[in-house]
Amino acid sequence: MIDDVQELRDALAGGATLPASWYSDAAILRREQDAIFRRTWQYAGRLDQVAEPGDWFTTVAGTIPVVVTRDRSGTVNAFVNVCRHRGHIVATGAGHRETLQCPYHAWTYGLDGALRTAPRSEREPDFDFDAFSLLPVQVDTWGPLVFVNPDLDVPGLAEALGPLPGHVEASGVDMSRLTFRERREWEISADWKVAVENYLECYHCPVAHPGFSKVIDVDPDAYLLSSDGLVASQFGTPRPAALAGDGKAPYNPSGEITQAQYHLLWPNTTINVEAGPGNLSVDATRPNGPGRSVGATDYFFYEEVSDERAREMMDFANQVGLEDSGLVEAVQRGLDTGMVPQGRLLLSSEHLIQHFQRLVFEALAER
Ligand code: FES
Ligand SMILES: [Fe+2]
Repeated sequence: MIDDVQELRDALAGGATLPASWYSDAAILRREQDAIFRRTWQYAGRLDQVAEPGDWFTTVAGTIPVVVTRDRSGTVNAFVNVCRHRGHIVATGAGHRETLQCPYHAWTYGLDGALRTAPRSEREPDFDFDAFSLLPVQVDTWGPLVFVNPDLDVPGLAEALGPLPGHVEASGVDMSRLTFRERREWEISADWKVAVENYLECYHCPVAHPGFSKVIDVDPDAYLLSSDGLVASQFGTPRPAALAGDGKAPYNPSGEITQAQYHLLWPNTTINVEAGPGNLSVDATRPNGPGRSVGATDYFFYEEVSDERAREMMDFANQVGLEDSGLVEAVQRGLDTGMVPQGRLLLSSEHLIQHFQRLVFEALAER
């Protein structure tokens, strides 16, 4: 699959992109599941969804179904949401109850993952309940955000987040003041990598995001990029005319947050802070078969931010998202032709894509 590892590694170092075929190849996607999505920290949902003992919600890490619970003792847990009996999905949606019951044969698990009852198991002389708990995954929180990692053996969330909490704090956002406002879900006809790569550069902003470019100074000397470990960051400054309320920008970015920040946590979680009143949004883009992705954005604001102000900012972000959907779907169609087998990055503006592609490449090459 990777014909010549060193050759491709060198090509990436020189600014070549990953091969176009990697964005639609089912075999690559299977390897990504194993080499990337099963071993990385991903946004799962919100702490308010498991506020009380007995609360639980379902989510997906990559393509692994996960259920996040708060058990009787108050501990937040996360498990692979697959029954230990014969593999039915255990929980659907979200809820509040003492136990999770598989709808197939009614094996019933506590919110601590332990198998409590299994009909007719008393007829089996050596049936060992302890051997069939739900499989745990790592879970941790940052402010109102819950993250999971299917791999129990890799370092914790704090190490993965690296510089991210410091960046967000420096933007002026106090994570403890954020409350959930709204979720938006989407589906796109593009590979998750196309979507992430599009997120990682603002080279396209002057061309493709006229509204965004009226709010944020997208000049390469003003719009800064940096990468550090598993985090790739972009920092944007609002334009003075927009701050002065010139009426041309889609919203007025004045407020206590004076810098926009857009961060990717490898591999597929993005954390966004807009200039303006206290806000943060987070999204995860997940593969949904070759060449297709699904995702959701959760918008958080400080409690006191009016619905009108929040609406303006979410509309702004959603408009950028719509423009991006069109871009990435057109890229996917172009890649699928196979006529341009490898692209070329402009590293001064697109080095975060190079950083991302090298992480993809090394993850797959390693296995
Ligand atoms: S598969 Fe869950 S009870 Fe049978
Ligand atoms: Fe964009």
